[in-house]
Amino acid sequence: MSRLWIDCDTGFDDLVAIGLACRSDYTLVGISTVVGNTTLDNTTRNTLAACELFGLDVPVYRGAARPLAQEPQTIEGLLGEGGMGTRGKKLPAPKWQAEKKNAICALINALEEGPLTILATGPLTNLAMVVNLRPDLLDNIESIVFMGGSATTGNHTAAAEFNTFADPESLSVLLSAGAPLTMFGLNLTRQVMIQLHHEDDMRKVGTEMAEILADHIGFYLRLVEKENGKPMALHDPSAAAYLLWPELFEIADTHMEVELAGTHTRGETVCEMRVPRKGEPNAKLAVTAQGEKIMEKVMEILTETAAK
Ligand code: BDR
Ligand code: CA
Repeated sequence: MSRLWIDCDTGFDDLVAIGLACRSDYTLVGISTVVGNTTLDNTTRNTLAACELFGLDVPVYRGAARPLAQEPQTIEGLLGEGGMGTRGKKLPAPKWQAEKKNAICALINALEEGPLTILATGPLTNLAMVVNLRPDLLDNIESIVFMGGSATTGNHTAAAEFNTFADPESLSVLLSAGAPLTMFGLNLTRQVMIQLHHEDDMRKVGTEMAEILADHIGFYLRLVEKENGKPMALHDPSAAAYLLWPELFEIADTHMEVELAGTHTRGETVCEMRVPRKGEPNAKLAVTAQGEKIMEKVMEILTETAAK
């Protein structure tokens, strides 16, 4: 069975990604945290709480508290208290703590032990540090399936998606090193929409865990439309869903560059699809998703987990 590592900056959608990934056929060997949605302390606490919620006994390691070359760009103002806003019930307090070993050393050790698929749902700082320190281990990275970037428009800025805006240099390091990247950008995640009825569907399950999840789904649906809520793209879980149901996605080769210098476009991912004519392929890009089917399956897993 292939081994899986999750690297995340846990807010609500990372939490759902963890809940899905642990139900895949992969063996989850470790989770690392990174500054992104919120501070490293918060993303680590949220990740430990996610493990508690899903009953996961997996080591959690603290990673980078700062991006590679700029100040942290956290957005807890948008995402609610601690980066994990809720309409009511909070996540359970974690019983466990993060491991003493840091995420960079832990991920290096995991790669020394054998091939690993990495699901990355935050800024790519930890992965860039690992590759910078130990380029010889690249061969043991089977694939980096990451949520970030966009082949169309951004969300944090008109041009850039949040994760690649928060640490564009790290994506650049991975591209230069030839890391095996598969990007799930906004062009893809906007095809997988969580709807208002999903909050009710979850609430109907009737357990404590269902209420916790429904309250977090409800908060997420009201990030933009505070009063009545509106359908929202389910970002990180879309990348996780690929690990479970790859047949529901179409993936294409691309030549990708990330903008490091643009005045208005820093963090933008520029995807040349006319490969190999206009550029050598250096990454894979998720282009289409069967969004409704994916949402059905995501809710099936979440409601099943919450019903126990
Ligand atoms: C990405 O940014 C974060 O806010 C989400 O967790 C997701 O990883 C979406 O742009
Ligand atoms: Ca994230």
